[in-house]
Amino acid sequence: MQELTPELMFDFLYNLPEQFEECLQMEFPWVTSLRGNYRNILVTGLGGSAIGGDILRSYSLRRLRVPLVVNRDYVLPAFVGPDSLVFAVSYSGNTEETISAYAEARSRGARVIVVTTGGKLGEMTAQDGYPVVKVPAGLVPRAASGYLFAPTALILEGMGLLPGVRAELEEPVAVLRSRRRNLEPAKPAPENEARAIAAVLKDSIPVIWGSSSTTEIAAMRWKGQINENAKSPAYFNVFPELNHNEIVGFEVPEDVLRRTAVVVLRDGNDHERVKKRIEITREIISSRVKSVTEVHSWGNSFLARLYSLIYVGDYASVYLAMEYGVNPTPVKIIDYLKAKMAE
Ligand code: F6R
Repeated sequence: MQELTPELMFDFLYNLPEQFEECLQMEFPWVTSLRGNYRNILVTGLGGSAIGGDILRSYSLRRLRVPLVVNRDYVLPAFVGPDSLVFAVSYSGNTEETISAYAEARSRGARVIVVTTGGKLGEMTAQDGYPVVKVPAGLVPRAASGYLFAPTALILEGMGLLPGVRAELEEPVAVLRSRRRNLEPAKPAPENEARAIAAVLKDSIPVIWGSSSTTEIAAMRWKGQINENAKSPAYFNVFPELNHNEIVGFEVPEDVLRRTAVVVLRDGNDHERVKKRIEITREIISSRVKSVTEVHSWGNSFLARLYSLIYVGDYASVYLAMEYGVNPTPVKIIDYLKAKMAE
């Protein structure tokens, strides 16, 4: 186990484009044997291993002909059965909720594919004879999002369920490579957008807003990364839903609102009506909160645009950790919880 130094997280982030490249070289020889008429697809996992499922869900929303659901629980929905394809994803392979859901998928007769570095789940899978995607160890789960997401999409493509994945995955490699030049520690603010955002987020409560079907998962990811890397609270929501509830909650308490830093993630493919909603919402809240910052996506393909936003948030969360003088890499509270639960 390597030492979880603060700098390590920067190395992990820097190498994200290469994760996609490596995944494009992976082979899944068993994939054709899994072709079939599935009625639904489910990805089960937690935290850094589940968000790959959300990316898959969001990416495949307008492309897949069957529903894809992300499950973050010990138990599975009632619809899972022999006509289901289940991805059980756990970076460590030791997450108890995922192990429990995996066992349930097995007993329901679903077709199961496991994505892991090993652990208990790796052992169970070897015994049960399900296909496994073995991803490289030595990272922390949230830094392995390329490895945890891309294989699932490539497998669905290989099964004939999701077209165009290979071509789609090429663009994030190029976009993230060009993006990282302005995000890495050698680059000062203001050219370094992530560093500038971290300065805005410091000493405030970050509220990250995305939009359904475009930037939602990036907003969710920003929130999780600020929590886990900067050890700070953060919240996220999406347009248009937030216009129907959250937006009413910007009147009191005034001191809390004055310390609230809103970040709006924007994408050229946001619905035209959503674009208008964002403008109106800015007008409503801007005099009440500490700041409203917009971050725009880059690239053409859905995945390039989504990941370009995720990448800025990943870096911003690490700069925020630096601002607070905390180590972004270990997550002692999660480790403590897991240890306590194992007692
Ligand atoms: C992310 C992180 C957590 C884990 C989660 C599940 O870096 O530490 O969000 O991803 O606790 O663990 P795994 O991914 O090992 O199943």
